[in-house]
Amino acid sequence: LDNGVARTPPMGWNTWNTFGCNINETLIRQMADAIVNTGLRDLGYKYVVVDDCWFNPNRDAQGNLQGDPQRFPSGMKALGDYLHARGLLFGIYQGPLDQTCAQYFDAYPGSTGSLNHEYQDARQFAAWGVDYLKYDWCSPTGTIAEQVSRFNIMRDALASTGRPIVYSINSNSIHSKTGPQRNWSDVANLWRTTEDITNTWNSGQTNGYPMGIQNIVNITVPLAGYAAPGGFNDPDMLEVGNGGMNDTEMRSHFALWAMLAAPLMMGNDVRSASTATLDILRNANLVAINQDTLGRQAVQVSDDGTRRVLSKRLANGDVAVALFNQGSSTTTISTTAAAVGKSGSSFTLRDAWTNATSTTTGTISASVPAHGTAVFRVSGGGITDPTTPTTFRLRSQASA
Ligand code: GLA
Repeated sequence: LDNGVARTPPMGWNTWNTFGCNINETLIRQMADAIVNTGLRDLGYKYVVVDDCWFNPNRDAQGNLQGDPQRFPSGMKALGDYLHARGLLFGIYQGPLDQTCAQYFDAYPGSTGSLNHEYQDARQFAAWGVDYLKYDWCSPTGTIAEQVSRFNIMRDALASTGRPIVYSINSNSIHSKTGPQRNWSDVANLWRTTEDITNTWNSGQTNGYPMGIQNIVNITVPLAGYAAPGGFNDPDMLEVGNGGMNDTEMRSHFALWAMLAAPLMMGNDVRSASTATLDILRNANLVAINQDTLGRQAVQVSDDGTRRVLSKRLANGDVAVALFNQGSSTTTISTTAAAVGKSGSSFTLRDAWTNATSTTTGTISASVPAHGTAVFRVSGGGITDPTTPTTFRLRSQASA
């Protein structure tokens, strides 16, 4: 979406993965302070997004949304001010139907969705200083045409406020299966590619609720052609630091999200994050690959069922290469500079995890543990770019 924001994938933190509906202004202020104190803000994690359950279940007499008076006694504008004063940005959650997801699925009280209140709510968000709206379709029904038209109303409502607001949509909260897939870059800055993530490597769900890391990667990799500055596939918020996976898998999750030009929205409790967790989230090499101004999503160069090679062209002519082992034992994964889109005969490789550099005449290879991902930044030579993404048109979209 050409609205001036999300020229690179947004980074930040969201309440949902760890706290669900158990949120309040004290928690969010503490998290904001932790994001600043751990150096995460200065690495780019700026959007603090208050997900579902922040609101009073009743609109006021004029139909305006209001924060929950118990959980947010200072009001939503004050929370935005708190974040802005610390160099952070303010995100909030809503939905295009008459209920949010928690209201629809979890019997959270009320019916405060934006249906028929879109312009009023957009003005309210702008007045509160909102910089990012997560807008979530929560119904097992809805054709792609209905979704597009509802999502477009809020897109236009946000634009009419004159405030730059990242527009993040989810067409997948149907808790039955992922879809419909579409290139949503005419509608939004970010669009979810699957049902909700969970802190599991493989949830066994190839297309349903909830989704593990491996499952989300499989669905999101073929969508590379959709990503560009202003519009990115959203494979959902990070589960780094939330348990349920070993350290290799946590690192792999982060490396793959970096390669996929995914929004890097932390979903852990930053206040109590371990050093191991912070070391992953603060990997400056991977953040730079994710935030590269060319805005490319990695494309798959090869896949033998176990060993997958991904290549992400970068703005300065470097190429980031991921060697991803989706098998269950350590294996050597190899590719070449030519295969990942480089010409020439001498290259420097920087290992994104160790920061060590080495030189090669072409071979790029590493021993990668089960579910691990090695990442190298390849410099030198020229660009042949055989991996320019083509736009993938999925069956569901072709028939829509
Ligand atoms: C949906 C979304 C989640 C979260 C919840 C809130 O399930 O996909 O990311 O926002 O709703 O209820």
